[in-house]
Amino acid sequence: MPSFDPVAIRSDFPILSREVGGKPLVYLDNSATTQKPLSVIDALSRFFSHENANIHRGVHYLSREATNAYEGAREYVKAQIRVPDTHEMIFVRGATEGMNLAAHCLASRVSEGDEIVLTIMEHHANIVPWQVLAAKTGAVLRFARLRDNGELDLDEWKSLFSARTRIAAFTQVSNVLGTVNPVVEMVAFAKEREVLTLVDGAQALPHGSVDLTEIGSDFYAFSGHKIFAPDGIGGLCAPREILDSAPPYQTGGDMIEKVTTEGTTYRKSPERFEAGTPNISGAVGLAAAFRYLEGIDRAAAAAYEESLAVHAAEELVKIPGIRIFGTAPGKAAIVSFHYSAAHPHDVGTILDTEGVAIRVGHHCAQPLMDYLGVPATARASFAFYNNESDVEAFLRAMRKVERYFG
Ligand SMILES: Cc1ncc(COP(=O)(O)O)c(C=O)c1O
Repeated sequence: MPSFDPVAIRSDFPILSREVGGKPLVYLDNSATTQKPLSVIDALSRFFSHENANIHRGVHYLSREATNAYEGAREYVKAQIRVPDTHEMIFVRGATEGMNLAAHCLASRVSEGDEIVLTIMEHHANIVPWQVLAAKTGAVLRFARLRDNGELDLDEWKSLFSARTRIAAFTQVSNVLGTVNPVVEMVAFAKEREVLTLVDGAQALPHGSVDLTEIGSDFYAFSGHKIFAPDGIGGLCAPREILDSAPPYQTGGDMIEKVTTEGTTYRKSPERFEAGTPNISGAVGLAAAFRYLEGIDRAAAAAYEESLAVHAAEELVKIPGIRIFGTAPGKAAIVSFHYSAAHPHDVGTILDTEGVAIRVGHHCAQPLMDYLGVPATARASFAFYNNESDVEAFLRAMRKVERYFG
């Protein structure tokens, strides 16, 4: 039975007990990457101590074991996020590669004058691949805007659809604003118009479980490192029918049926898009992270994280000159802010002297920064292993910033 005990959970993450610069680490950069529980670290160590071999090609025992670990990880993760039977999950390096691969697979389905609907809150990883596709095909990108609280203006988003719309790509959770988009409704709207959908799940899985049969999107991309798994591994879930009719993305070993000096025939997905030796240990680590998450009551964990973020935001705005970006109802535990008296980099640097790790910059969302009218923000992002002491340390450090610059 999944449960949630924040004290026990914190002790699962060894890095959280270290000091930085003589101060206890206060890790509030979880939207950039998450820390890893011992069970994931142990799974990697066990894999390298007991099972390491190259996969698919070997006839020997160890290769069979490593192949089972890799393919077993795929099946397990697919079951955890409920990938529909009609879909396959390609192991990719992360959400970025996932979205590049999706744009590659859709290239032949887009022609000059066709339209791709995005939102202004997207991460560069869900903008640039579509810009590249548009440059190749002559397609046009259309960006939906936001309400003042950082919520997507859904009516405006819907109004962007035309008879030429082929693709709609949108994030489930904004990495800057924490806004949770109504992806089920958005996918349904697009589907009624026969528009293909991609959901960027990079910031959604860290804050709750995901059911792809419920979301219903054609494509869904995510990164392992943001959900307590190693970096360099993630997934792109997509319809087999689209994957198997798309040309390969990279070529080489493991993705071929037959190679002759005259030419090559290719395998179907997932191998079609996993040329060369894949990140075998990463897949094992990804499965271990999902196994860890299976024991956690994700709804309780999300409510706990949100309470930390709400407390942090409520106290933060008491500092004159602080502006918070993203106050949509039900938002994820991400607090982006701007302090009129100091550049975000100065804020981040002073916080660092207190052991508090936050992210400052444009968060790979420059169109959003332009839209908000700031060059950068500071961002404190929470995970279920954070606690009230972290919030207090963050607020103490922010008062130090205020003493310097206020
Ligand atoms: C919303 C969103 N999409 C995509 C990405 C890209 O993820 P990755 O760098 O793991 O490929 C990120 C990373 O911060 C993100 O926050």
